[in-house]
Amino acid sequence: MAERKWHVIIADINAAQGPEIVRQLEEKGAEALFVPIDLGSPDGPKEMIRRSIERFGRLDVLVNCAAHAPVEAFMEMTAEAWERTLHVNIRGVALATAVAAEQMKKQKGGRIINITSPASRMALPNYAAYAASKAAVDSVTRAAAVELARFNIQVNSVAPGMMDTPLQLRTEEVFARLEECSDLESFRAQRTARIPAGRRTDCSEVAQAVVWLAADAPSYIVAERLNISGGLDRD
Ligand SMILES: NC(=O)c1ccc[n+]([C@@H]2O[C@H](COP(=O)([O-])OP(=O)(O)OC[C@H]3O[C@@H](n4cnc5c(N)ncnc54)[C@H](O)[C@@H]3O)[C@@H](O)[C@H]2O)c1
Repeated sequence: MAERKWHVIIADINAAQGPEIVRQLEEKGAEALFVPIDLGSPDGPKEMIRRSIERFGRLDVLVNCAAHAPVEAFMEMTAEAWERTLHVNIRGVALATAVAAEQMKKQKGGRIINITSPASRMALPNYAAYAASKAAVDSVTRAAAVELARFNIQVNSVAPGMMDTPLQLRTEEVFARLEECSDLESFRAQRTARIPAGRRTDCSEVAQAVVWLAADAPSYIVAERLNISGGLDRD
């Protein structure tokens, strides 16, 4: 998005990374704003949208990307992990979508892209809260898409395959531990071998899919779940 010289707002709970993210986006040609916010709080999503509109006066695209991803042994799962996951990954997405839609309706259009995961359709006992939350993201995507299509707001989702982000690295470390595998590298290699394309993806490849849906895709694409997972997830 920054390469297209769009105005970009990043909202994240990790405030420490704000200045560096803004620097990187500006280097690519964007006007950028970092909003430090907890999207799992009741008012966080609304505040994110309010501050975005306050800064740039309009809102054309919302990408719901933030996620909480605890890994817990199935029989040791905790209420805290469930609560946090549901608040950030589902309630946050739903509320942000609703508030963004108000503004987009006034503007007579907009695009909303929710980041889901192949996990939403897999049986992952040690990742139950995360996987269930992503199944709920798919549900919220469908509901929002149907409600908002009449306002020329297209809601779709992107399901990325394995990207080696901090979230993925943390997740695999705990997966390996819970599966009693001491060799993390071979554990990761086995997981990569399950991907039909034979490799993992990365953020820039997934960003291309998001930008396509946000800007280039025909407006008749509504309620679509775009897999970008090298064949790991398929319809
Ligand atoms: N990495 C993968 O392999 C993979 C695969 C499928 C889907 N995804 C999805 O991609 C998206 C991005 O994940 P990622 O892999 O880049 O992980 P990441 O941990 O690098 O990024 C997630 C971001 O969400 C932020 N966040 C967490 N809780 C928050 C909160 N309460 N309020 C605001 N921000 C919060 C984190 O600070 C972090 O910057 C997520 O929706 C994730 O579920 C990732």
